[in-house]
Amino acid sequence: MLILGIESSCDETAASVVQDGTRVLSSIVSSQHDLHEEYAGVVPELASRAHVERILPVIRESLAEAGIGLGMIDAVAVGNRPGLIGSLLVGVSAARALAWSLGKPLVGIDHVHAHLYSGLLHGPDEPPKPEAIRFPALGLVVSGGHTSIYRLDSWTRVTRLGGTIDDAIGEAYDKAATILGLPYPGGPNLDRLASSPGANPAAFDLPISRLGPDSLDFSFSGLKTAVLYATRGVPGRREDHPPHVPLDDQGRTNLAASFQKAAADAVLLKLKRALVQFRNSDSLALLTGGGVTANSLLRSELQRFAREQRLDLRLPARQYTVDNAAMIAGLAFQFLQSGHNSTLDLQAAPTTAC
Ligand code: KG4
Ligand code: ZN
Repeated sequence: MLILGIESSCDETAASVVQDGTRVLSSIVSSQHDLHEEYAGVVPELASRAHVERILPVIRESLAEAGIGLGMIDAVAVGNRPGLIGSLLVGVSAARALAWSLGKPLVGIDHVHAHLYSGLLHGPDEPPKPEAIRFPALGLVVSGGHTSIYRLDSWTRVTRLGGTIDDAIGEAYDKAATILGLPYPGGPNLDRLASSPGANPAAFDLPISRLGPDSLDFSFSGLKTAVLYATRGVPGRREDHPPHVPLDDQGRTNLAASFQKAAADAVLLKLKRALVQFRNSDSLALLTGGGVTANSLLRSELQRFAREQRLDLRLPARQYTVDNAAMIAGLAFQFLQSGHNSTLDLQAAPTTAC
């Protein structure tokens, strides 16, 4: 089965053709980073206008790269929630029109749930991972907009166990990077600085938010503020405290590494707590996704954790960590297999389904 996936929830215009749920024949992502760079954040009106210009060329390119014509598509899938409403509307309108004109099923997909699926995707010449996912499974999404832990009883039954009460982890990465004077988008640049030779992750003692003893929620605003104070000094400093010394290059590198370590520790702490809710964690699937799963330290920490706890870790290949349409088309295959499809009046919605 060939599914055309469309994604336009934020600042990436993407289209992809996926065969039988996991084999990615094409995944085209047109990023708008250059458009938003001078504002150090996504400007919604600019994003939706750029989606309008790019959506059809991106869809055409995804079909051409997959080597197929529109007539060969079996279904059209689109990320219809959550996201910027103007951006979502562009992808949803295109998907509705295509499904109607082709007379093929339309599937609306929750973008955050699709991130949980991204670890199953593989290139056309790579073998799929042989074992099927066993449910219930544990899920983790760490992105620019979300930091959440899930229980999945099937691909269509997803329950959120906890999430951030303030900043998402990717947002904290981007803001910490801006404070450190790194270019937008900050996450990958901070990762690079933190991984540079000589970086000392123990140089700064930064806060890791625990919240209540059983809480699976996250908080990253304190960590972000600690980076701000370490860089610029604590406001209202008492006279008897030593004066703030501006950071030199080594200090900035150490602060980046300390931030990266604290952010990864916060995620692992909550994952460990979440395991308690799964009676037999042996070979429990841990489905991960979102832009921050591209982070070098978090990737190695997740792999170590999965080995220790004997989890069936599904970590996306780097090209499927950030927003893409292959994860939308892949998850849509599972929806269609279990008889879930949408009607042609599918609506865009700014909030996630759970
Ligand atoms: O999943 P995504 O593309 O968009 C959302 O759905 O939010 O995630 C984008 C986020 C950004 O905050 C970006 O800085 C972060 O993922 N990111 C990283 C890395 N690569 C991307 N954060 C830390 N380390 C990275 N290597
Ligand atoms: Zn995303």
